Amino acid sequence: MSVYLLVLCLALLQQEGRAGPDPPGCDSPDVVKVAEEALGQINQDRTNGYILSLNRVYDVSVTEKETGGLLYELAIDVMETKCHIISRKNWKQCEIKDIGDVPVYGECNVSVNANPEAKLQSYLCTIRQVPVDAVLNTCPDCPTPDDLDEPMVKETAKLSLQRFNKESNHVNYFALGNITGASSQWVVGPSYFVEFTIVETVCSKRTDPSQLNNCQPMDCQFAHKGLCLGTHMTHEDKMEEKTHPDVKKIVDLKCEIYEPPAASAEKLNHEQAESGHTEHQHANHAHLHPHEHTHSVAPGSNLTVPKPQASLGIVVNQPAKPKPAPAAKSCPGTSRHDLNLWDFEL
Ligand SMILES: *[C@@H]1O[C@H](CO)[C@@H](O)[C@H](O)[C@H]1NC(C)=O
Ligand SMILES: *[C@@H]1O[C@H](CO)[C@@H](O)[C@H](O)[C@H]1NC(C)=O
Ligand SMILES: *[C@@H]1O[C@H](CO)[C@@H](O)[C@H](O)[C@H]1NC(C)=O
Repeated sequence: MSVYLLVLCLALLQQEGRAGPDPPGCDSPDVVKVAEEALGQINQDRTNGYILSLNRVYDVSVTEKETGGLLYELAIDVMETKCHIISRKNWKQCEIKDIGDVPVYGECNVSVNANPEAKLQSYLCTIRQVPVDAVLNTCPDCPTPDDLDEPMVKETAKLSLQRFNKESNHVNYFALGNITGASSQWVVGPSYFVEFTIVETVCSKRTDPSQLNNCQPMDCQFAHKGLCLGTHMTHEDKMEEKTHPDVKKIVDLKCEIYEPPAASAEKLNHEQAESGHTEHQHANHAHLHPHEHTHSVAPGSNLTVPKPQASLGIVVNQPAKPKPAPAAKSCPGTSRHDLNLWDFEL
């Protein structure tokens, strides 16, 4: 560099009062791309809860690393989707929980190395339900969340599971995993919506009912898992139904069953061997639980996720704190989702 250029550069630097080019804003394509990839890796790192979707980049800082590459420190706003982590879907394919689905929102602080591939270093997210008042002020008839330990919630899950086992075409008995969500809404009496995971056990469905409690889940690699939503309706004027619900009162049941991790490898062989049979089975139980092909990644691509060095995880039911104003210019970025709550900001 000539002396003249050097002087010019120094003069420019002084004039601008900082070193280096404009830092990228929260809507800059590079930043958004890193945020999207980081969120994909966060979702892949998790083993429980619902897949998170990006709402916006709230703040960003980019520093050059001595070892080369860039370190992105991002604050992102997220929303919970309707897809459970066990579905292993790509978050971009998942709808967010809207105002009628007991919406959940939150923030993550994320560090990502870009060299140039984005590699998640660490993350910490806090998420929480949108306050009931904010939902009801905008949508008075929307369902409100219920305590997952409520007897009616547990009963609805139990009855829904009975019905699933009765009607599914799976050979093995499925047991209850976790109750993952519950809400109720007044129709002709309270209606309960209970979402829960199920897991395939080693027992056949023909097992004597008295023995079903002893059925162990299949080895994780081979067990089908699923997510179910059961709806139980009660009539206000028929009080006995509240105390003696039965399986007929499950008015609606939807389950999605996901392939076990080991299936993707085996699948090819299996389908080549008996493709007709497989097709038939799928068609047969499609009405109850449409068969899901789970891996969000294209076949043949690398499924192993590099483990973040210091993944810190997700904290649920964390009350919202006032956010510090973004430090970067052109931040926060544009929101992708809006629940149209008239007196509440996500
Ligand atoms: C993210 O970092 C900011 C600033 O340090 C802090 O106020 C906030 O609580 C952090 N959020 C999470 C989810 O850790
Ligand atoms: C139930 O949830 C716990 C964490 O709350 C998790 O460790 C466990 O794997 C879940 N079980 C099933 C069968 O999904
Ligand atoms: C998958 O990625 C990991 C980590 O980046 C790498 O070590 C491994 O060799 C890759 N495997 C294949 C089949 O590409």
